[in-house]
Amino acid sequence: MIKYLKDLDLKEKRVILRVDYNVPVENGKIINTKKIDDSFETIDYLVKERAKIIVLSHFGRIKTEDDKKDNTLKPIYDYIKSLNKYDILYSAVPMGDMLTTMANTLEPGQIVLVENTRFLDLNGNLESSNDIQLSMYWASLAEVYIDDAFASMHRFHSSITGIPKEIEEKGAGFLVEKEIENLKPLITNPNKPFTVIMGGAKLDDKIELIYSLAEIADNILLGGGIANTFLKASGYDIGSSLVSDESLAKAKAILAEFKDKIVLPKDVIVSPTYSQTYELKDLEDIVIDDMIGDIGSKTVEHFKSIIEKANTIFINGTVGKYEEKPFSNGTQEILNLAANSKAKTIVGGGDAGTAAKKFGYEEKLDFISTGGGATLSYIANRTLPGLTALEIADEEDNSKS
Ligand code: 3PG
Repeated sequence: MIKYLKDLDLKEKRVILRVDYNVPVENGKIINTKKIDDSFETIDYLVKERAKIIVLSHFGRIKTEDDKKDNTLKPIYDYIKSLNKYDILYSAVPMGDMLTTMANTLEPGQIVLVENTRFLDLNGNLESSNDIQLSMYWASLAEVYIDDAFASMHRFHSSITGIPKEIEEKGAGFLVEKEIENLKPLITNPNKPFTVIMGGAKLDDKIELIYSLAEIADNILLGGGIANTFLKASGYDIGSSLVSDESLAKAKAILAEFKDKIVLPKDVIVSPTYSQTYELKDLEDIVIDDMIGDIGSKTVEHFKSIIEKANTIFINGTVGKYEEKPFSNGTQEILNLAANSKAKTIVGGGDAGTAAKKFGYEEKLDFISTGGGATLSYIANRTLPGLTALEIADEEDNSKS
């Protein structure tokens, strides 16, 4: 079983709270604060319990010393501080005497936000290789471990799967609890017809998920970069569009097994690689220099006829390069159709979540997951390493042994 916040004694305890503050930042500005804002419910509860809160998060990927500049959690600290809601400190190092002292001298209800856990990847990949010494160090700072970083729970990293091995009192925060509550029905008992809409650039990360979902869903509408590989697998010439050769054989296998469920674009917006122009084309008219950037109007109409009938919709990724004006229409239309449909619509975080915010559909969608890869992994594997790490034998089992 997994304990949730209300099952734990947190009164004045030193608590490590793992959150996911890996948010999109452009030119030093946070462009979507959702993951941060969604962590406040748990933080508020911990503050109310007068816990001493040590907040850990990763941010980006750290491969060189230079990467640290663009991947510090300082802007996140500045954002939280600017809300004037919390008594929050900042530890500029993720490990060492300074952090230890701060953690040991926290007042009840006080918070310390610790610098990016992945800064420690420069010294032997410590965080990302789940280093036991590092896990033990972090565990030594607290009496309780709370994981509220749903978006990172697919990682076998020290701050996700390492620390809970070293701390007996552990559990999940409100954000994780809500994620499971909303995502679980997708894999157990979705209200049918169940329509999946998938897009995004990289198919390799999603091919297994498409396979798992094809078994449960009634139809899978594909767009974006991932549709290109399926179009190629179906024999279309897709010009110079992004394609994943690695997943081509698997795409063919999925098409063969689930031909009636996979729905591909009929027309697309293309732009030749050498120019800034763009054009609506049927698939048959694509030429060698064309790059697909969005789905076309016939495809939107076709997708609409399916979306209108659905009772459950899961959206992951975007059906076009929604950040660029000529290619934003498909994504906006699909979000609009889903938001105004009768279906319960769950958005699988990442780009689709950011697009929902950009086009103003955040409030109209039933649930926007904070997870990208984690949401996919949860649906494909029905659990996550970070969840398994929180499992404890339930009390009944203990009493029998
Ligand atoms: C995410 O943004 O999906 C999570 O924060 C995980 O980030 P990662 O892919 O760098 O582990």
